[in-house]
Amino acid sequence: MEEAKKTFLQYTKPYLPLGENIDLKIKHTFRVVSLCEAIAKKKNLSKEEIEIAKLCGILHDIARFEQYKRYQTFSDLNSIDHGDLGVKILKENNFIRKFIKDDSLDTLIFKTIKYHNKYQLPKNLTAQEKLFCNIVRDADKIDILYLYTIKDIKIDVENDIFSAEIIDQLKNESVINRATLKTKADRLAVSLGFLFDIAFKESMAILKEKDYLNKEIDIYMQEDINPKLKEQLEEIRTIIKNYIDRSL
Ligand SMILES: [Fe+2]
Repeated sequence: MEEAKKTFLQYTKPYLPLGENIDLKIKHTFRVVSLCEAIAKKKNLSKEEIEIAKLCGILHDIARFEQYKRYQTFSDLNSIDHGDLGVKILKENNFIRKFIKDDSLDTLIFKTIKYHNKYQLPKNLTAQEKLFCNIVRDADKIDILYLYTIKDIKIDVENDIFSAEIIDQLKNESVINRATLKTKADRLAVSLGFLFDIAFKESMAILKEKDYLNKEIDIYMQEDINPKLKEQLEEIRTIIKNYIDRSL
């Protein structure tokens, strides 16, 4: 793992002059590695499996640097799918071998990268592939929620409220369908809806302990936002609490 970390830092170094966003992605990667480790440990995986989970974490956003260099954005919608690009980068000149000598896990590792940013996992994964894909997806989501609590991600809700359709999706405990977003506040609901895509109760326990969703809501409650939005956020807070308690 130390060798993989070194290779990752070597690889990302030439991108550092592109600005602070590169550094933020490096830090995000290392927090995701820690979260992958924490989830894998809580799931009582073997030492070897914990190492695989950490390696998948270190590689999951490997394409972010090339994506930012080429397109100056992290928006896949406006550039390229960074899950797919990550696999391509690691296959080129067998770059993956610099991270792990043994090639028997390549298919598994590539799938965790390819699918970490997809709306849903495909149905045809093996149990092992599904396990590691979900560890990376959960870890990634938990860290994105953390970024909301430190205002690294901040939605300007202005004087908006959540649209009825979005509130219904949260009440139904479903992941927010981005195609249904209407108001500025609705964009905030996307992150809150991540909760319903958390795969493991071990991840849920971490999320509960860190209390990220309440902290995120608190930030908006302290602001001068539409009183109706405050009311909606309190309602959502209850939905979240009930869901987490039921999942544990
Ligand atoms: Fe990513």
